[in-house]
Amino acid sequence: MKKERIDKIISSQGLLSRSEVKLLIKKGLVSVNGICVTDSGFKASYEDDITVDGQPLNSSEFTYIMLNKPKGVVSASDDKKDVTVVDILPDELKRKRLFPAGRLDKDTTGFSLITDDGDFAHRILSPARHVKKTYLARVSGRIDLERAIKAFEEGVVLGDGTVLLSAGLELLEDADEPLFKVVIKEGKYHQIKRMFLTLGVSVTELKRVAIGGLRLDETLEPGQARLLSKDELDLIENGALN
Ligand code: URA
Repeated sequence: MKKERIDKIISSQGLLSRSEVKLLIKKGLVSVNGICVTDSGFKASYEDDITVDGQPLNSSEFTYIMLNKPKGVVSASDDKKDVTVVDILPDELKRKRLFPAGRLDKDTTGFSLITDDGDFAHRILSPARHVKKTYLARVSGRIDLERAIKAFEEGVVLGDGTVLLSAGLELLEDADEPLFKVVIKEGKYHQIKRMFLTLGVSVTELKRVAIGGLRLDETLEPGQARLLSKDELDLIENGALN
């Protein structure tokens, strides 16, 4: 079990600065497995039972954040020109080494998953794992629905010859600019926009609404973010939407 300084473990949860934690430790307000700790250099593990001022610390080594990505921010940790999904996180959620697990285009909105856990990101992004990403796509005109559903199911061949994995397509709103639910299992560059281009229409609005079995929390306004619970992480990796 990996051990770290107790002040580092507590401050890495993002709510308190290192100096604030040191002060609490000095005041005798921090305990590990029921024993009061008075030395900030005391080594503990993320699995230990840690309390701060009587409150249990839900400590984990890594951070997992759901952001309702607004338009106009880029899916990167930092960028010379544009504001990034990490830039717009509230200060209490910001950590070093956070990055978006998967890229949404600058004009795509919705569920952006931001973490510092490279293994987790790899698992949910790997096409071999088949973690589904669900999107709502509004497109520029009507299409032949039966043909499109069949083409998505069989695996679209993009303009450059890339053969995609089987994808789901469902018409949600029949209008001059119809709305579709699209479910994909991989994340190629501009994938959904390019899939619709093969049908002769372009995507005018795109929003990611779920990753695996976890839906975007619609109480998050565009630009708002919150931490994910362990159960929600499990839904991402192992859950299915009904
Ligand atoms: N497909 C796209 O075309 N863009 C996105 O942002 C995500 C999937």
